Amino acid sequence: MPDLLCPLLSLPAIGPHMQRINAHGIHLRRANPWEWTALRTFIVGNFSEAWADETSVAMARQPVSCFIATHENKIIGFADYECTRRGYFGPTGVLESYRGKGVGTALLLAALVGLRDMGYTYAVIGGAGPVDFYRKTVGAIVIPFDEGRGVYHLKDDPAFAPS
Ligand SMILES: CC(C)(COP(=O)(O)OP(=O)(O)OC[C@H]1O[C@@H](n2cnc3c(N)ncnc32)[C@H](O)[C@@H]1OP(=O)(O)O)[C@@H](O)C(=O)NCCC(=O)NCCS
Repeated sequence: MPDLLCPLLSLPAIGPHMQRINAHGIHLRRANPWEWTALRTFIVGNFSEAWADETSVAMARQPVSCFIATHENKIIGFADYECTRRGYFGPTGVLESYRGKGVGTALLLAALVGLRDMGYTYAVIGGAGPVDFYRKTVGAIVIPFDEGRGVYHLKDDPAFAPS
C-alpha cells in the first residue's frame, strides 16, 4: 500500500459535504477527551488495535486531532491527523453500514483543514488502502517510491543505523 501526497491549498469546500451528512442525521465534530474509551472501543471493534493506538496520540493533543462522525449520539466514523508522524493524515474509518453517504469525505476534509491550519501545505497519507477514494475526493497522488519504504515498514530507524 503506497504513501500518498495530498495538496492542502486546493481542498474542496467542506460545507456541501457537511450539509449532505447532516441530512442523514449525521454530525461531525472534534472528539472530546472524555470520549476516549468509547472511541477506542469503536476503533478496536470495527478496525484494529493499531489504529486505536495511533488515535491515542490524537486524544493526548490540544486541540484533539481526531474528528468523529456521530448518528443518534453513537460514533460511526473517525479521522485522525498529526498522529502517525508530523503532517500525516489518518487513520480513518467509517462503520460499514454508513459508507457511501459522504461521511468519509467530510471526515477527511475536516482533518486535512486541521493540518492546513497547522501550516502544512501538503499532507502524507501513509500506507493508503483506498487510493482511488483519496484521488477522487482530494486529488491525492501516489508518492513514486517502491512500496516497503513507508513508515509502516520501518524495522530500524535509519537515523540510528550504524554506517
Ligand atoms: C475509505 C472510507 C473511509 C470511505 O468512507 P465513505 O463514507 O464510504 O466515503 P464517501 O461516502 O465519502 O465516498 C466518497 C467517494 O469515494 C468513493 N469511495 C469510497 N470508498 C472507496 C474505496 N474504498 N475505493 C474507491 N472509492 C471509494 C465513493 O464511492 C464516493 O464516490 P461518489 O462520490 O462518486 O459516490 C471507508 O470506505 C472505510 O472506512 N474503509 C475501511 C477503512 C479504510 O480503508 N480506511 C482508510 C485507510 S488509509
